[in-house]
Amino acid sequence: MKKITAFLGLVFLLPLALGDLKVGFYNSTCPQAESIVQQVVQSRFQADRSITAALLCMHFHDCFIRGCDASILIDSTDSIPSEKSTGPNLTVRGFEIIDEVKKNIEAACPSTVSCADIITLATRDAVFFAGGPSYDVATGRRDGIVSARDEVNLPGPTFSVSQAQQAFAAKGFTLTEMVTLLGGHTVGIAHCGFFQDRISNFRDSGAPDPSMDPSLVAKLKVTCGASSSGDPTVSLDQSTPSIVDNKFYSEILAKRGILQIDQELAVDKSSAAIVTKFTSDANGFRQSFAKALVKMGNVGVLTGNAGEIRKNCRVFN
Ligand code: HEM
Ligand SMILES: *[C@@H]1O[C@H](CO)[C@@H](O)[C@H](O)[C@H]1NC(C)=O
Ligand SMILES: *[C@@H]1O[C@H](CO)[C@@H](O)[C@H](O)[C@H]1NC(C)=O
Repeated sequence: MKKITAFLGLVFLLPLALGDLKVGFYNSTCPQAESIVQQVVQSRFQADRSITAALLCMHFHDCFIRGCDASILIDSTDSIPSEKSTGPNLTVRGFEIIDEVKKNIEAACPSTVSCADIITLATRDAVFFAGGPSYDVATGRRDGIVSARDEVNLPGPTFSVSQAQQAFAAKGFTLTEMVTLLGGHTVGIAHCGFFQDRISNFRDSGAPDPSMDPSLVAKLKVTCGASSSGDPTVSLDQSTPSIVDNKFYSEILAKRGILQIDQELAVDKSSAAIVTKFTSDANGFRQSFAKALVKMGNVGVLTGNAGEIRKNCRVFN
C-alpha cells in the first residue's frame, strides 16, 4: 500500500514539476518581455556577431552548474568567490548584454522576469540571428540564491568522448544530444592555451596531434606562436566561424577540429556516425540543435516559489 501511494505520488508530481515552465509564461505579467530581449540582442548582434557565441557559452555554463538559475551571473564579493571567478577566467563573456536587457525589462515590469529566463531567451534569439533555427522556449525559471566557485565542475577540452558522455549523462543527455550540443562550437573562439599541446607536443610525443590536418597545425602555430602577445584566440569552426550551421561537423570530419574533444567526436567509434550524419543533413542538425538547446534550458530549473527574481542579475536580492 505504501509502495502504491509513493508510486502515485511520483506520477502526479512529475508532470506538475515539469509543467511549471510554459511558453509565454510572461504573457500577462510582462507581455513585452520577449520582444525587449529580442530588440537588445538584435542591436548588439548588428554591432558584434560574436555575441551568439558569448551567450551560447554562458547558457551552457549556467545550466551545467546548479541548473539554469543565472548563478553564472553573480559577481564575486570580497568574502565569497562566485562561479564567474573560476580559472581560467577568460571563457564566459557577454554579461553586459544581460545587464542591458535586465535594465530595460525592469523599467517595463519590475521584479517579474528572471535573469535565468533572460539568458535562455537571449541565447535563443542570438542563435536565430546567426542563421540558426527559430524555436519556442518555455519560461518561468527563477533565479538561484547560491553561486560558488568551488561548485564549478565542467567537462574539459581534453576529455575523451566517454568522459564527456558521463558528464552529459549526469545532466540527463544522451550521446546524440551531446554531439548535437557540442555543435555549439560552430561559432566562437578558443584561446590557444586550450589546445596548445595539440599543435606542438601532443601527449608528450614531441609532435603535433596526428589527428589534426597538418596545414591547420601550421596555421595555428603562426597565430599561437611565441611572437604573439597575450593568449591569442582562433575560431572553433574554421569554415563558417560566426554562422550557426552544420559546417562544424564537416570541419571535424576533415581533421580540422580545434579542441581535442571536438576532434574526438569525429574519431571515436561511438560518435563518428552521428557526426557523419550531421555533415550531410543541415536541416536535421538545425532541428536537433533547437531541441537539444530547449532541453539544456530545462536542466535543474527553479520554478514556483523557489529562488527569487533578481532585481540586478549580478547580485542576490
Ligand atoms: C564537453 C563539453 C564542452 C567542452 C569541453 C567545452 C570547452 C570549451 C572551451 C575550452 C572553449 C574555449 C573558451 C575560450 O578559450 O574562451 C569553449 C568555447 C565555447 N563553447 Fe564550449 N565546451 C563544451 C560544450 C559546449 C556546449 C554544450 C556549448 C553550447 C551549446 C558550448 C558553446 C561554446 C561556445 C559558443 C564557445 C565560444 C565562446 C566564445 O566565443 O566566447 N560548449 N568551449
Ligand atoms: C502566450 O501566448 C502565446 C501566443 O498567443 C501562446 O502560444 C501561449 O500558449 C501563451 N502562453 C500562456 C502561458 O498563456
Ligand atoms: C583573471 O584572473 C587574474 C587573477 O586570477 C586577474 O589578474 C585577471 O585580471 C583576470 N582577468 C579577467 C579578464 O578578469
